[in-house]
Amino acid sequence: MLKFSENLGDGRFFRKEEAIEIVVQRVRNCKACPLHETRINPVPGEGSLDTPIIFVGEGPGEEEDRTGRPFVGKAGQMLNKLLKEVGLSRDKVYITNVVKCRPPGNRVPTNQEMAACSHFLMAQIQIINPKVIVALGSTALSFFLEKKVSITRMRGKLIDWLGGKVIFPTFHPSYLLRNRSTGPGSPYELALQDMKKVKELYDEYRKV
Ligand code: URA
Repeated sequence: MLKFSENLGDGRFFRKEEAIEIVVQRVRNCKACPLHETRINPVPGEGSLDTPIIFVGEGPGEEEDRTGRPFVGKAGQMLNKLLKEVGLSRDKVYITNVVKCRPPGNRVPTNQEMAACSHFLMAQIQIINPKVIVALGSTALSFFLEKKVSITRMRGKLIDWLGGKVIFPTFHPSYLLRNRSTGPGSPYELALQDMKKVKELYDEYRKV
């Protein structure tokens, strides 16, 4: 995996850390859509830049808006729990969202908001260059596949995407919080199966 430098396409080479910092600063200054008017803090993303796995959620919630960090509220605790169960941790992956500012009342971001923000996510993917993009929930999955898709039908499948990368859809952690059963075939059990697959993919690709 490319570790130290990234050609940003204009002849200059940046270390990944520098390139991501530019994206972070631009997210912080962004006023491209109405979400900037109601945000407290933008939430660019965080984690390892040398990871083969990036997690992409929908958009920041209340706690994320307050702290400027992704998945730190109740959904984040559920994500942490799943990661821990399979022997992964947040610092081994990168975590971000389709939109970087909280939609008021945690509504689903509009197509216009997602379009205005998408270049940040694309830049993050280009810089980090992960092999696997874990789409958390139907908003993230539909963003990547550019059509409305059912997460229930697609979860757990590897879907070829651009540049030799794969999309791996799974349930959004908030969905698991709303559907608390944990027995065989339950959303939690299926999400755990998916996370075990994520760990296998991590082990397979971190060596490359
Ligand atoms: N839900 C998301 O989709 N993203 C977060 O960062 C937190 C909750």
